[in-house]
Amino acid sequence: MAGRIPDAFIDDLLARTDIVELVAARVKLRRSGSNHHGLCPFHNEKTPSFTVSADKQFYHCFGCGAHGTAIRFLMEYDRLSFPEAVELLSRQAGMEIPREARAAAPSPETATLYPLLERAADCYRDWLRRHAGRERAVDYLRKRGLSGEIAARYGIGLAPPGWDNLLGALGDAESLVRAGLAIRNEQGRVYDRFRDRIMFPIRDRRGRTVGFGGRVLDQQEPKYLNSPETPVFQKGRELYGLYECLEQQRKPTEIIVVEGYMDVVALAQHGVPNAVATLGTATTGTHLERIFQVCRDVVFCFDGDRAGREAAWRALENALAVMRDDRQARFLFLPDGEDPDSLIRERGEAGFRALLAEAEPLSEFLFRELSTDADLRTMDGRARLAERGAPLLARVPAGVFRDLLVDELARRAGVDREHVLATMEGRETPARQARPSAKQPLNLPQRRTTVRLAVALLLQRPALAALAGDPARLARLSLPGVPLLVQLLELLRDEPHLSTGAILERFSGDSHETALWKLAAWDHMVPGDGIEEEFTDSIRRLETLLAAERLQYLHERLQDEGLSEDEHAEWLSLLRSRR
Ligand code: UTP
Ligand code: MN
Repeated sequence: MAGRIPDAFIDDLLARTDIVELVAARVKLRRSGSNHHGLCPFHNEKTPSFTVSADKQFYHCFGCGAHGTAIRFLMEYDRLSFPEAVELLSRQAGMEIPREARAAAPSPETATLYPLLERAADCYRDWLRRHAGRERAVDYLRKRGLSGEIAARYGIGLAPPGWDNLLGALGDAESLVRAGLAIRNEQGRVYDRFRDRIMFPIRDRRGRTVGFGGRVLDQQEPKYLNSPETPVFQKGRELYGLYECLEQQRKPTEIIVVEGYMDVVALAQHGVPNAVATLGTATTGTHLERIFQVCRDVVFCFDGDRAGREAAWRALENALAVMRDDRQARFLFLPDGEDPDSLIRERGEAGFRALLAEAEPLSEFLFRELSTDADLRTMDGRARLAERGAPLLARVPAGVFRDLLVDELARRAGVDREHVLATMEGRETPARQARPSAKQPLNLPQRRTTVRLAVALLLQRPALAALAGDPARLARLSLPGVPLLVQLLELLRDEPHLSTGAILERFSGDSHETALWKLAAWDHMVPGDGIEEEFTDSIRRLETLLAAERLQYLHERLQDEGLSEDEHAEWLSLLRSRR
């Protein structure tokens, strides 16, 4: 893996790139004032609502809301990954990309794998057209209802029977083994991995072939053989059919996730070009991020049997963490014994779309699964529901969707939302917590952390709260103890005259009670006249951490999926303030 690209470099790169020139090379633009206008490349329109601003180095579409920097534009328009977009811009700007620690130059080996895989795909396609034994394969595909057009769109090919067709055609045995196309056995003999199979090339988002799936033409095992993972092919990242879908629809309204190669291809054959399949693996968070980069809605379409439900549940578990408010996930379970391929062949596009329209929202599937074998008429059952649900809800990013899920879980379990929230934070709920006995010696805290020190000082001198500024901003910090510090600051903002004892009283029965007692009694060794300064210092340290965390978060999001306009501005200002 190449090292991380430093934030400061990205900043410079954007400053040195002329976004107008970049976009104008791909989209026809007309100048008006300091802006340039054109037809939006990201949705269909007849009157231009796409603007590019030279001053702000931004593009924005008033029609569909697409917006971003030069990097984002390349990611969306040329479908590059973040590093690829940066690389291209750097080359144009004549800048060298500095890499942070662990930097490894992109291996020359990787660079040779792509053309090799491409040549292999050409061979397989060619053999489907010309090989002496092609009739059987052509018949098979025809029997499965595929037209030449769809076979061509998906680049379907044929690996003829025999041990060395590809080896013979492409030579380079060593590279073929590295590309996963050939196997070296224990005796050192090298032979073709794919033999006597229909070949489905797996393409990455730029359309480069990175691997293959091969299906037998009869009842042999295994039915499908997939390329192994290689430096250019990771199953947890790639989605079969995504590239082909985007070639048909630049902005699909939704993506349908199905289980098999043939499902993707059959759906396309019947007028549903927006299906993708994972490659014999579970749907990962990375898969989902990739999908949500191109549209807001995803529908998982799985078999109704147990294996299908389990796959769906795993997909749900991985989806939770990426369910921002503007995204939607739904689940469609097919009747027993059917898959999308068989279904659309029986019922046609309209029949399939009718089923699709009834897909169940994520929340419904979630609660239905959580409630199975929890009898909600009993207290036990409801407690179990709350306990199982809370950790799942805790994965969902904060927002309206999460709030609604919390409400719904609380309603179903018959507990209040505070209880659910407490369980989500991994706190013990008040009812369970035994009050610390007065006789029990308090184990005083040993480790001095910034948060502990701040809490202790605050507790011991509550008037300090007035120096801390708005508590809410600290809440984003993911350090232990921060929720307590924030809670304390909020309490004191609302009721500034509480004494130490009064505060402790407020927390009686709370899960933090013991910790607070310890801190209230802690000898922090700060002399009386240094307390104010020590406290403001600790808050300042937390702010620095906060900025660093936020920067890191925004930087990662930028690399993964891009930032909103506001986030981008925030990111730039954080970058600047750091220097
Ligand atoms: P299925 O067995 O459901 O096959 O596997 P299918 O898609 O319905 O295939 P057809 O209709 O018989 O041609 C679904 C997916 O699971 C993976 C493949 O990715 C396949 O598309 N799989 C299945 C394998 O990797 N290996 C296998 O042996 C079988
Ligand atoms: Mn099938």
